[in-house]
Amino acid sequence: MFVVFEGIDGSGKTLQAYLLAARWVEEGKKVLVTEEPCIHLPTGLSLKMILRSGERVPVDAMAMLFAADRKAHVENVIKPALNRGVYVISDRYYYSSLAYQMEVPRGWLEELNRGLPEPDVVFLLDIDPKTALERLEVRGTKSLYEKMGYLERVRENYLRLAEEKGFVVLDASRSPRRIHEEIVQHVRD
Ligand code: TYD
Repeated sequence: MFVVFEGIDGSGKTLQAYLLAARWVEEGKKVLVTEEPCIHLPTGLSLKMILRSGERVPVDAMAMLFAADRKAHVENVIKPALNRGVYVISDRYYYSSLAYQMEVPRGWLEELNRGLPEPDVVFLLDIDPKTALERLEVRGTKSLYEKMGYLERVRENYLRLAEEKGFVVLDASRSPRRIHEEIVQHVRD
């Protein structure tokens, strides 16, 4: 089983990824929670450093870096786990690139991200950026991308993708417990 969580920064997807993992561990399953950028790989670490430093890297170069990290993540982390029968939960996947790297042409982005395994289910944690940003301010992790206008557009991109690709869209303004129960129900179905 390969499950992906997507959403804007502050949507609570990381928490939901770990809640689902905890549930599966209780059920005796072997589970791997992973994320993109992948901090276990040099590619992901350098992306994190770029994002944290606020360095201005051209948008097409960023798209290539995210795709490079993703390919390494799939080959070195996701595929080996799936091959061992491990349940994999990824906090972000190539849909993040389609939603965030909106300044670069969609066709080229798809080309960069071609040949990746499709997840069994993608959960989109949908929330308005204002609420999401308030959460982030509490956590003190504002970054380059965490700006309202930008996140409004990212959210719209996600909602369009959800229709196109059949994501499960969840109202992420509700309590984590309720969202979790809905996720568990979907995974069972
Ligand atoms: P980070 O702050 O590490 O993520 P999070 O807050 O979700 O833990 O930074 C990841 C940022 O990178 C986030 O703003 C989304 C962005 N991003 C892209 O723009 N494209 C991508 O392909 C991915 C995976 C992330």
